[in-house]
Amino acid sequence: MRRELFKMPPGIYLDGNSLGLMPFAAKAAVEKRLLEWEESAVGGWDDWFELSERLAPKVARLVGANRDEVAVTGSITGNLHALLATFYQPQNVRRNILATELDFPTDLYALESWTSLHGTELKKVPSRDGETLEFADILEAMTDDIALILLPTVLYRSGQKLDVKKLTRAAHERGVLIGWDAAHSIGAMPHAFHDDGVDFAVWCHYKYVNAGPGAPGGLFVHQKHQERTPVLRGWWGHDKLSQFEMRGDFRRSSGAGAFQQGTPSILALAALEGAMTVFDCLDLLELRQKSLELTDYFMDLCDKHLIELQIVTPRAHTERGGHVALAHPGARALSLALREKGVVADFRAPNVLRLAPVALYNTKAELEQTVQILRELLDGMKMGTLEPGLSSSSMVT
Ligand SMILES: Cc1ncc(COP(=O)(O)O)c(C=O)c1O
Repeated sequence: MRRELFKMPPGIYLDGNSLGLMPFAAKAAVEKRLLEWEESAVGGWDDWFELSERLAPKVARLVGANRDEVAVTGSITGNLHALLATFYQPQNVRRNILATELDFPTDLYALESWTSLHGTELKKVPSRDGETLEFADILEAMTDDIALILLPTVLYRSGQKLDVKKLTRAAHERGVLIGWDAAHSIGAMPHAFHDDGVDFAVWCHYKYVNAGPGAPGGLFVHQKHQERTPVLRGWWGHDKLSQFEMRGDFRRSSGAGAFQQGTPSILALAALEGAMTVFDCLDLLELRQKSLELTDYFMDLCDKHLIELQIVTPRAHTERGGHVALAHPGARALSLALREKGVVADFRAPNVLRLAPVALYNTKAELEQTVQILRELLDGMKMGTLEPGLSSSSMVT
C-alpha cells in the first residue's frame, strides 16, 4: 500500500511482525533531530520538550483512544510495571492476576514480579493445543479470586487474535480490571480501546509501526481512571507547565502522560515521529483489509502447495492478526535455509515459522516466490539434500 515510503532490503522481507522496515521518513526525522542537537545543543529542548505529547494523539488514532489517553514512553515491560504498580491492588478475596500460558515471556515476568511482591498468585489460562486459546477457557478462568487480567490482543506465536470487546466486557461484568498487550496488533489493524472500555494497554512501535529497533513504547489509560496518581512517579509525568518549577510535590500531568517517568530519548522519538507519517491519511480499515487479503492469499497458497506445513493461525478473519504461523518439525532448518535464499522470516522454538506479509509494503508476488522457495526446500528435505547454513544459493531479488 505504501511500499515506496520504505527502504526495501534485497530479497523478500516477511519479518515485519518482529522488526518493521525503515521508512525513509524515519531516517530523515532522526537526521533532522541530530542536526538540531549539533547546532542548538541544549536549546533544542525548546522544541523537544513536548515531542512525546505531540506524538501521543497520532498514536492514539492507531489504538482508538482519545488524545490524552495515550503516552509515548518506555518499553512494554517498563510500562507494564508502571501500570501494574497503580492498577494492581489485591484485596482479600480478589487478589490474583490472570494471564495465559501463551503470553510473551516478558509479560509473565512482569506480572510475576507483582504477584510475588504481594504474596499472591499468577494464574494462566491453559491452551488446549499449545498454540491457541479458547474463549470459553478464558471466561472459565475469570474466577472470584481474580483482581486483574492481562491478555494479548494477538498471540505472538500463532497470530490468534482475541476479542478485546467481548473479553473486556466479560471482565467488567465480574468486577475485574483488564489490560491488553497490543504489540502484535498496533499498526496492523484498527482498535477501539476507548469505546471498548479497556482499562489499560501497552504496546511497542518497532513491529508494524516501523519506528526502529528499541523504539519507545506506548501505553493507554482509559479516561475513567485518569484521576489516579501513578504509584511509580517521575518528573516527566509531572504537569508540563510547572515541570521546571522543580517543586518537591508531584502534580500529575493530565491524562496518560502522567505515567511517563524520565527524560525520553529524542533520537528514538524522532524515528517514531518520521514513521508515523506513513500512517497519515491512511484508512486503518483499508489497511486491515489489505492485511487479511495477503494472509488469506498466503494461506491458500500454503494449502495448495505446502501441505506438509500445518497452519496454526486461525482461519477466521475475526480471529487472526497480521502474521501466519506454520508448524513443522524442521521449522528451524527451513527458516535458516529461507534466509540463505534471501527470504527473511522468523522461527519460534520448537517448531514454528512465522511469516508476516505486511500490508504497508509486502506484495502477493513476494508471497508466491516465498511459497515456491519453501516448496523447493521441503522437496530438498525429503530427498535429504537440504543442508541449511551450507548452501551458497543467491539472494532472491
Ligand atoms: C507480545 C509482546 N510483548 C512484549 C514484547 C517485548 O517487550 P519490550 O518491548 O519491553 O522488550 C514483545 C516483543 O516482541 C512482544 O511480542
